[in-house]
Amino acid sequence: MLADDQDIIMPSNFAWGAATSAYQIEGGWDADGRGPSIWDTFCHKKGKVFQDQSGDVACDSYHLWEEDLKCIQQLGLTHYRLSLSWSRLLPDGTTRRINQKGVSYYNRVINDLLANGVSPMVTLHHFDLPQALQAQGGWQSPQIADLFDSYAQFCFQTFGDRVKLWLTINEPYIYAKFGHEDGCHAPGLDQPGVSLYLAGHNMLRAHARAWHSYDALYRPTQGGQVSLALFSDWAEAHDPSSALDVAAAERYMAFVLGWFAWPIFVNGDYPPEMKARVEAASRAQGLPSSRLPTFSKEEPRILGTADFFALNYYTSRRVWPGSGPAKIGFEGDLEVERDVDPAWPVCGNSWLAVFPEGLRKLLKYIKDKFGNPTVYITENGFSQVGPVEIEDARRCRFFRDTLLQVSKAIHEEGADVRGYFAWSLLDNFEWADGYRVRFGLYHVDFAHPRLKRTPYRSGREYAQLIAQNKTSARS
Ligand code: GAL
Repeated sequence: MLADDQDIIMPSNFAWGAATSAYQIEGGWDADGRGPSIWDTFCHKKGKVFQDQSGDVACDSYHLWEEDLKCIQQLGLTHYRLSLSWSRLLPDGTTRRINQKGVSYYNRVINDLLANGVSPMVTLHHFDLPQALQAQGGWQSPQIADLFDSYAQFCFQTFGDRVKLWLTINEPYIYAKFGHEDGCHAPGLDQPGVSLYLAGHNMLRAHARAWHSYDALYRPTQGGQVSLALFSDWAEAHDPSSALDVAAAERYMAFVLGWFAWPIFVNGDYPPEMKARVEAASRAQGLPSSRLPTFSKEEPRILGTADFFALNYYTSRRVWPGSGPAKIGFEGDLEVERDVDPAWPVCGNSWLAVFPEGLRKLLKYIKDKFGNPTVYITENGFSQVGPVEIEDARRCRFFRDTLLQVSKAIHEEGADVRGYFAWSLLDNFEWADGYRVRFGLYHVDFAHPRLKRTPYRSGREYAQLIAQNKTSARS
């Protein structure tokens, strides 16, 4: 045991979890009546994903769930975060047709988890919109809020007697930006400055609708909690003594995290600086109004529609004001340049510079800006690229350093953190990077006929940390 293990002290009933998502692990893409999602369509086009790989088979968790369950048991997790595939349950995205085989699959998963003392945290939408709904405009269409609400209510009715922690939507920021501006994720649109804000807006509306439905119709009997998983980097001033760099860091946080957190946790509207900047840039383009939509008074309220704060954190950036020619779109609206501190080791993929202190700072920021909410860290992880290292000492160090910072955020900053979910239980389909990038606590041999799962050393050590923490929390 390393000396600093003693310093990782989590509150009693801390949720020790690992996370996955349906498209990234399930496979069975056309099995038993599942309808296609936008990720099936995206991957089946040439040139979108590393080596044209896809989630057609992935870890085949649709057929090999028992193997995943063994991993969960070996780790001693108290919680497991999974997502439901909307198009496995409702093949055309609507409740007109329900796929009972999909319902049975998730019933089995949820029941097995509970029988093993593991609480499920369930995400309703983790990037994989049914293709049939994309054909009707997807997240850019205002009707999506109703359709999402019906799907959410179907899930609350079907699984809510047993699922007590719900996330409506995973990372609206990444979904909107990568899928509707950068084009590197499904649905692969690249219309700068317009469609991402529209998609983001409809995701907020849809989330709020589902939260209100839960609150009014299901919470009284089911007693669970509902939130959405928000992605955020931590941004700090490149030069802390420069007021402009400090302002750029604030702006970065407002555009990345505030875009979704401000309406829900602060005042029902977008951050003032984001509104002002998108409005000004839109006018400068000659548009009659802002590209950032406005919330209608007739809509159910957005403020207060989260029972806890769910945070996905991976990395940090040093930022300063942008100076190049004004670009049209999100980057032009934000006008911030960024890099990483050379002291932050880059792991696996180039965007992931490791800075565990960033998580502690971000938790303090969330406490201060968003009214000291209860927080679950719903994703955090460290990737490998290249020759597989089962004895992954660097990732072991990473988990210890990160959990130490979480522990400090709780004890020294007063953040109300109730759980931590490592991304991911298994190596899986890492979106546009395919299987090249491995985030698992368990290695998956994608060439093996049964996709053999083997714990990395970091998986074994995570299990030890959990066991130690459970013992110390008892004593
Ligand atoms: C998140 C996403 C996950 C996973 C992770 C690692 O943005 O929610 O599905 O892929 O990144 O890159």
